[in-house]
Amino acid sequence: MEINYVLLLQLLVGLSSFIGFGKPDPEPLHDYCVADTKNPHKFFSNGVPCINPDHTLASHFATSALSQPGNMNQFNFNVTLTNTNNLPGLNTFGLVMARIDIAVNGLVPPHSHPRASEVTILLEGSLLVGFVDTSNRLYTQRLRPGDCFVFPKGLIHFLYNTDLVKPALAVSGLSSQNPGAQISSLAAFTSNPAMPDEILKKGFKVTGQDVTRIRRNLEG
Ligand SMILES: *[C@@H]1O[C@H](CO)[C@@H](O)[C@H](O)[C@H]1NC(C)=O
Repeated sequence: MEINYVLLLQLLVGLSSFIGFGKPDPEPLHDYCVADTKNPHKFFSNGVPCINPDHTLASHFATSALSQPGNMNQFNFNVTLTNTNNLPGLNTFGLVMARIDIAVNGLVPPHSHPRASEVTILLEGSLLVGFVDTSNRLYTQRLRPGDCFVFPKGLIHFLYNTDLVKPALAVSGLSSQNPGAQISSLAAFTSNPAMPDEILKKGFKVTGQDVTRIRRNLEG
C-alpha cells in the first residue's frame, strides 16, 4: 500500500496544533519556582528566575495585596493584581488573581488581555459585563453577587457598574502570570508617541477637532 505522505503530514501538523491549542503559560518543571525578587536579573527569561528551593517559606505563597481597594482612576475603577513581586510563589503557574473595585456608575472600559482568559465572580453590587468576539458579536450579561462570567482570551470586554448607589467588588482569575491589559480608547488616543491624527480620523471617521477633544478628555 502506498503511503500518502501529504495526508500524513497534514494529520501530524493538525494534531500538534490541536494539542498545543489553549495552553496557558509554559508548564512548570518543579513543584514551584518561587520568584527571586531580591537579586537583580542579569538575563531575560520567560518568567522570573527562582530562589533556591531550600529557602522557600509558606509566606511566599501568601499575600494581602488584594485586601484593600486601590485608588480610583479617571474611569472610576481600580484593579489590583497579584504578581511575582507581591506573591512570588505564583511564578510559572500561568495564573494571577485580580481585585476589581468599580465605583458607583464606574466603568472598566473596553479592553483586552493579550495573554489570558479571565473568569470573574461578582462579590458585591451589580454589573453589566460583556465581550465582543472576532465576528463582532456582542455577548452581555447582568451579574448579581455570586454570579460568574468568562472573558475569552484576547477579546475586547468591559465591566460596568450600573448601580447609582452601591460600589461593585469583583474578583478575577486570569490564565497568565502576566496577562497584560490594553484599554482600546487609551491605546488609540493616548499612545506614546501619538498615533498620527490622520489614522484616527480615518479609523474612527471623525474630524481633527474630534481627535483633539477625545485626546484631551482621556488625558485630562
Ligand atoms: C489601582 O490603585 C493602585 C494603588 O492606589 C495604583 O497603583 C494602580 O495604578 C491603580 N490601578 C488602576 C488600573 O487604576
